[in-house]
Amino acid sequence: MYQVVQPRILCMGIGSLQSIERIIEQRDPKRILIVTGPNVQRLGILEKARKAMGNYAQRAETFINPTPKPNVAIVEECAQVIREKGFDLIVGLGGGSPLDVAKGAAVVAVHEGKMRPLFGRNLLKRTGIPTILIPTTAGSSTETTQAIVVGVPEEGTKKSIWDPRTVPEVAIVDPELSRQMPPKLTAETGLDALVHAVEGHTSRFANPFTRMYTGEAIRLIARYLIRAYRDGSDMEAREAMARAATLAGIGMTNSGLGAIHALALVLDYKGFTHCQSLAVLAPWVLCFNAPGHEEIYAEVAEALGEKVQGLSAERAARKASDALLRLQEAMNISPYLRDYGIKKEDLNSLALRAHEVGQRLIHMNIKEVGPEDAVAIFQEAFSPDSK
Ligand SMILES: [Fe+2]
Repeated sequence: MYQVVQPRILCMGIGSLQSIERIIEQRDPKRILIVTGPNVQRLGILEKARKAMGNYAQRAETFINPTPKPNVAIVEECAQVIREKGFDLIVGLGGGSPLDVAKGAAVVAVHEGKMRPLFGRNLLKRTGIPTILIPTTAGSSTETTQAIVVGVPEEGTKKSIWDPRTVPEVAIVDPELSRQMPPKLTAETGLDALVHAVEGHTSRFANPFTRMYTGEAIRLIARYLIRAYRDGSDMEAREAMARAATLAGIGMTNSGLGAIHALALVLDYKGFTHCQSLAVLAPWVLCFNAPGHEEIYAEVAEALGEKVQGLSAERAARKASDALLRLQEAMNISPYLRDYGIKKEDLNSLALRAHEVGQRLIHMNIKEVGPEDAVAIFQEAFSPDSK
């Protein structure tokens, strides 16, 4: 048996932002809070969204999330604004960070304004303020997931609220909004989407339904990410990447992730971008996971465009990590911790802390990962000479 959650309304495709006025009209809110980021404002996307809202823009105020790494304090600050002014519709517009703040504030606002007691699985007592999420990147997939992830400074890591009630009511995925994404951000967010798809596909809780989503997401990303990276105005590639990120998000939020995202939590907090954390872990976690699970990793390799017919099960499975390494190389994203300033003598303690912090996600990994396995993965991830 499995349960599937996803936004009640999913608007997809070039120009879908224009549907926002009609969607808001159905709710007829009194006060709307748009939660966004400084870049979205600078690039004119906020203005575009306000215009698409028609007369409802007059009922809207803006909350700017100032940081690419949101934490508990910023979510609670936004929730406080919602409580004080009585906003009854939240519109999140931007990359994963403002969308997480929007989603977080929408539920924290109806839980006495406090976020910490909600960390964990299914601890929400009530549904949050209705939200419409509009991504401007193609990667975090926050607009489709049942998770809110933020930094917790006193614990030196990120934590999450995982609950079906965090799924937004509406997601509007308009690839046009990602047109101005620079190549580096296209690469980074695209890699995040790919790792969501691969981890979702191989998670212990994956099922035929979720694999339909994640398998197609892997195929699309393998085919279109480099195109979008090389030419941001290639709208066929942008559209495919937007669709892929949405599929990956729905797939993985219903199947779970695994050791890559688990071990990345500490690195994410330590100054790595989320993509860098995934880049140094994904190829090596795949190498660790594949033995004993050759069939599913051969399937991943094939979805990544590798030829696996006629190969031994072991070699076919290994091709998944080979393909990932090649993709990262083509986009100039190093898979080695050394290149991000990590010192060899810190590897063991870092790995053990990552293992401790990532327990909830590690449990979803296809294979058991002990503390000594985490150390081995970090050792392998250190440099090309590690093997
Ligand atoms: Fe991610």
